Amino acid sequence: MLDKIKQLQEELSNIKASTVEEVDELRIKYISKKGLVSQLFSEFKNVPNEQKKEVGQAINVLKNFAQDKINELRDRFNNGTPKDDGLDLTRPGESMKPGTRHPLSVVRNEIIDIFGRLGFTVAEGPEIEDDWHVFSALNFPPEHPARDMQDTFFIEKDPDVLLRTHTSSVQIRVMERTQPPIRSIFPGRVFRNEAISARSHCIFHQVEGLYVDENVSFADLKQTLLYFAKELFGEKTKIRLRPSYFPFTEPSAEMDVSCSICGGKGCNVCKYTGWLEILGCGMVDPNVLESCNIDSRKYTGFAFGMGIERITMLKYGIKDIRHFFENDVRFLKQFESAI
Ligand code: DAH
Repeated sequence: MLDKIKQLQEELSNIKASTVEEVDELRIKYISKKGLVSQLFSEFKNVPNEQKKEVGQAINVLKNFAQDKINELRDRFNNGTPKDDGLDLTRPGESMKPGTRHPLSVVRNEIIDIFGRLGFTVAEGPEIEDDWHVFSALNFPPEHPARDMQDTFFIEKDPDVLLRTHTSSVQIRVMERTQPPIRSIFPGRVFRNEAISARSHCIFHQVEGLYVDENVSFADLKQTLLYFAKELFGEKTKIRLRPSYFPFTEPSAEMDVSCSICGGKGCNVCKYTGWLEILGCGMVDPNVLESCNIDSRKYTGFAFGMGIERITMLKYGIKDIRHFFENDVRFLKQFESAI
C-alpha cells in the first residue's frame, strides 16, 4: 500500500497539461470520487491495524498534494489560454510620464544660474513681514501710497503685520545680519491687493538683487544688468536705462531690453516701441544702508528687482498671467523640454 502511494505521488509530481480539458481529465483520473487517490481510501479498510496510522497519514498527504497539483495546473489557464505564470512579456510597458517644472520655476532657476555665474548667492526671507522691513527701513516716507490698505494686505494693525509687497524686504533682512561685501539675489513670492486680470495678479513672484561693497558704482550696475539681459534674452539684446524713482535707491532707473520678439523693429508685444520694461534698479540710498547699521561713507551698493511672471510672459509669449496659477496641464505640458 505504501509503495502504491509513493508511486502515485511520483506520478502526480510529473503531471502536465496544455489545455483546461486536460486538467479536467487529470482531476477525474486522480481526485474524482472514482479517481486513483479516492480508491486508496476504499482500500484502507484492508490495511492491517498496526499500519493504519502510518498509511492513513500518507494517504491524506497524497490527497492534499493531488488537490494542490490540479489547482496549480488549473490556475495557469485563464479562459482557456495559458497565462505563462501570469507574465505576458509581449505586453507594451506602461510609460511613466516624468513631471515637468513650472515655467516660473524654469525662469527663476535660469535667473539664479545667470547671477550665480557673477558670484551672487541666493537668500530668502519671510512672506509675512512687518512695516519696518517692507517700508520704513527702505526709506518709504510715512504717507507713501504703498503703505495704504489699497495696495497692501494687512494681517494686523498696530503693530503692523502684513504680506510683503516686494522682495526688497529681504535686502533689509540680509543687511541687518551681514556686513559687506554682500552679493546676493532673493527670489520669492509677493502679495498686492490688486484686481486679478490678464496683466496683474494679487500673488506673483519677484527676484531682488543686492550688491554692497566698497567702491560699487553705477557702471557696475549697468554692466551686471547688461550681462544678465544678454544671457536671458540672447547675445544681440540691448538695454536702456530710464531715470525713475524708488524710495530705496538714489539715483533710480527702470531698465528696458530690446524686444526679443521683433528684434527692436516694433511689434504688438512691445507696443511698437522696440523696448520692453523688465526691472527697476538703482544705487542703494545711504539712508537704507544706515537703517541696517552699514557705514554709508565706506560702502555703496546697487539693487534691482524684477517680476518673474512678466519676464516669463515676455520670454515665452504668454498673454495672460492667470495661466501661471490655474495649473491647466495643457498649458504646463508645453514646457516639457525646458528643464
Ligand atoms: N521693489 C520694487 C517693486 O516691487 C522693484 C525694485 C525697484 C527693486 C528698484 C529694487 C530697485 O531693488 O532698486 O516694484
